[in-house]
Formats: sequence, C-alpha cells, structure tokens
Amino acid sequence: MTAKIEIRRANKLFDTGGRRIAALENVDLDIRANQFVTLVGASGCGKSTLLRSIGGLEDLSSGEIRVDGRPVSGPGAERAMVFQHYSLYPWLTVRENIRFCRALKIKREEITSADVEIASGRTDALIGLMGLAPVENAYPNQLSGGMQQRVAIARALMNRPDILLMDEPFGALDAQTREVMHDLILHVFALEKPTIVFVTHDVEEAIYLGDRVVLMAPRPGRIDSIYEVPLPPEREQDMKLSPEFTELKREILSRIRATSGMQTDRGMLDKLTATAQPGAAA
Ligand SMILES: Nc1ncnc2c1ncn2[C@@H]1O[C@H](COP(=O)(O)OP(=O)(O)OP(=O)(O)O)[C@@H](O)[C@H]1O
Ligand SMILES: [Mg+2]
Repeated sequence: MTAKIEIRRANKLFDTGGRRIAALENVDLDIRANQFVTLVGASGCGKSTLLRSIGGLEDLSSGEIRVDGRPVSGPGAERAMVFQHYSLYPWLTVRENIRFCRALKIKREEITSADVEIASGRTDALIGLMGLAPVENAYPNQLSGGMQQRVAIARALMNRPDILLMDEPFGALDAQTREVMHDLILHVFALEKPTIVFVTHDVEEAIYLGDRVVLMAPRPGRIDSIYEVPLPPEREQDMKLSPEFTELKREILSRIRATSGMQTDRGMLDKLTATAQPGAAA
C-alpha cells in the first residue's frame, strides 16, 4: 500500500547573504494514512521547513513530496495547517472565525442553502467538540491562549482535511493547558481520523501524541532516527510515568543532545571563558 505522504530525497537550500543553508538534505519519509507522526529535533534542524514543504508553502530545491500519489505543488484544502500563533481574525467572533475559511472557498453566487446548512452543522459540531460553546460569540482578544488555539484547530478542521500539519501549536501554552490540549487533539484524531504531522520541541509531547517520533538533526537538516512509540493507541496521562515512556524519553533526549551541535557551542563557550580570565594568553 502506498503511503499517504511520500517524501523522496527532499532537499532545501536557503541562500542568506552569500551563505547557503541546507535546511533539508536527502529527507526520505513515508507517512501512512491516519498516522500521528511527531517531528522533534534541535532548533534549526528543518522541522518547520519540512512541514511547510508538505503544506505546499515552501518549494523544495530538489526531490519530491507526494500526497495520495500526487506531487505537492502548492497549498490545498486537503492539507490544513495550525501554527504556534493562532492567527485568528480579530474582527470576527469565534463562530465566524471557524466558518470563515469555508466561506472563502465557495464563490458567493455559487453558495446554495444546502452549503449553508452543511457549514452551520459542521460549525456547530466543531464548537461542541472543542468546548467553545460558552464563547462562540466572543472575539479572539477576549479568550485565553488555549481557547484561541482551540478556535484555530476547529477552523483547520472545518473543511475535513485529510492531513493536519501542526507546527508547535501548543508551544505558547502553559503546562496544564497543554495537557488538556493533548487529550483534546487525541480525541479529535480518534473521531476524525486525519493524518497528523506535528512539530514540537517537547519530547514528552512528541511521545504522548505520536504513533511514531521522527528525530531530525541540524546542519544539514536531516532525519536522524525514527522511533515507534510502544504505547497503546488510547493514551492516558498516567502512561507518562511508565518505564516504556521514560526510557524512550531518555533515549530521544540523549540523541537530540548528541546531534544538536551543542558540544561545539560548549567548546566555544569554554574558549570564551578562558580568554576572559585575567592573565589569559593573548
Ligand atoms: N526563509 C528562510 N531563509 C533563510 N534561511 C531559512 C529560512 N527558513 C529557515 N531557514 C533556515 O533553515 C534552517 C531550518 O529552519 P527551520 O525553521 O525549518 O528549523 P526548525 O527545526 O523548525 O527550528 P525551530 O525548532 O527553531 O523552529 C535554519 O538554519 C534556518 O535558519
Ligand atoms: Mg520551527
């Protein structure tokens, strides 16, 4: 069976002021339909670049990404993105924000009453699912960060995307709100069965949510290793205390440290400290 998302020898070079940065080098990855894949790795290892390339927001320098066998050549309604910053429309209410992208997709003269009914039904269902009923007529600046991100996720789900691409969506939330959001996104995943690619800095989050954790390494941005998560599909917070969980977390964290290039940075820091000493060699 072919994968939902096929990434083949993906390369991405950025040119910045004469310096070439290999954000992605020969990245190969298959993601099956209805799989929850999490991407982790040191800052700058190309996680966002890879995610944006799948979303069609970034062109590869060479290589290919296929979704359902078709090459990605730009954004598409079957791939929805959620970012760390909620990017809601401040002048629209919660309900209007969720419905808005649907309205954009259909030309006004082509909207039928059936479309309106379907969109209202879906909006109602998502407002219920995401626990937004009490605030559906509020504006984004009246909501907490967690609530705003629920709206952003509901909006991403509005068109029933096959694929949900999330770039550190809970990065700005406090630990307690994140836990609530984790169980909420797992609930959404079980109900709607999208394929999810989820970028995070947080290894615990990556293991708790993912079926597979893909670890990337920087300079050049590449896939270093892939871990199958040895937990049952129905996750519970207590599983974070299990030996399987803590062992995998330890293994991934130590691999991130080993691939982050921090050793070199440490070396430079030592040199800096040495030269700062009085009487240090000139
Ligand atoms: N538009 C751009 N122009 C130039 N360089 C870029 C651009 N976008 C990303 N890069 C570089 O490409 C590399 C990968 O960046 P990317 O944002 O994908 O990393 P990341 O893994 O998402 O990092 P973080 O964890 O900090 O978000 C970095 O070295 C970054 O500086
Ligand atoms: Mg990033």
